[in-house]
Amino acid sequence: MTTAGPIQPNAQDHNPNNLPMKVAAVYDRVIGASLARAWENVLDWEHLPHLHNSSFSSLKLEDAGQWGWRARTKGIPEETSPETLIELVVDRPNSRYVSRTLEGGLPGMEIWTYFAKADERKTRIEVEFHIPHVDDDGAAKLGSLMLGLYETLWDEDERMMVERQTALDARAASAKNANESQIDLGDAKELTSKLPLTIELAGKAVNIVQIDGEIYAYSAECPHMLAPLSDVPVDKEGCITCPWHGYRFDIKTGKVTNGKDLSLSPGLEVSITDDRHVLVS
Ligand code: FES
Ligand SMILES: [Fe+2]
Repeated sequence: MTTAGPIQPNAQDHNPNNLPMKVAAVYDRVIGASLARAWENVLDWEHLPHLHNSSFSSLKLEDAGQWGWRARTKGIPEETSPETLIELVVDRPNSRYVSRTLEGGLPGMEIWTYFAKADERKTRIEVEFHIPHVDDDGAAKLGSLMLGLYETLWDEDERMMVERQTALDARAASAKNANESQIDLGDAKELTSKLPLTIELAGKAVNIVQIDGEIYAYSAECPHMLAPLSDVPVDKEGCITCPWHGYRFDIKTGKVTNGKDLSLSPGLEVSITDDRHVLVS
């Protein structure tokens, strides 16, 4: 990740190019996640085409850093959707960020989001859609489109943030009382008929699956940002793809198959006793 910064001059200012702008709509909501989760989500460009796969089909990153990120994105469907260059710039001291369209779509469009802490686990968000070169009718139409889109995006983001917070809390709690280190899943033949299955070991969800006749166990929590993996199906190649950022893991090796440097649940072992009981440790 580089930190070259935004290419738009005066990127933290409103309307740096003095375009004729209208505020097409304002979206207001309180989400059930802390400010920390909300800021983490803003800088997390990687989730767009995965978590928001009904709104974005692809994303090619140009640059990213603590200042924000810039990427070429496409909507849905990919074939007919124009490529849009978006630059997102954060202004932490003023608790706000702007996502600006630099090319494609509506160049010069600025979406300003303001965060305010509502309580430890709640954040108020206010989003303003500033559209250049539109009349009142055009602004009203675009405004209502943007409100619908943002409702979906923030629903998806809120779900991810809440699940991540739950996983972080559980991790902190289980570190205190992680005594249980092994579980007996009973007779191998009987177990096989029930797979796939999610069990709990030392307070953590563990998925048990069968691939090519062998039983495998892996943590039902993504090692990247702790997405729940209990309901993610194993594909024909024995892999699972995380719904949050699209990392694909080979269950047999635990390794990521799409170029990232991460491993699924190191340390979980499946063994079969002499009396054909399956142990996970
Ligand atoms: S949480 Fe990011 S790929 Fe799974
Ligand atoms: Fe998002």
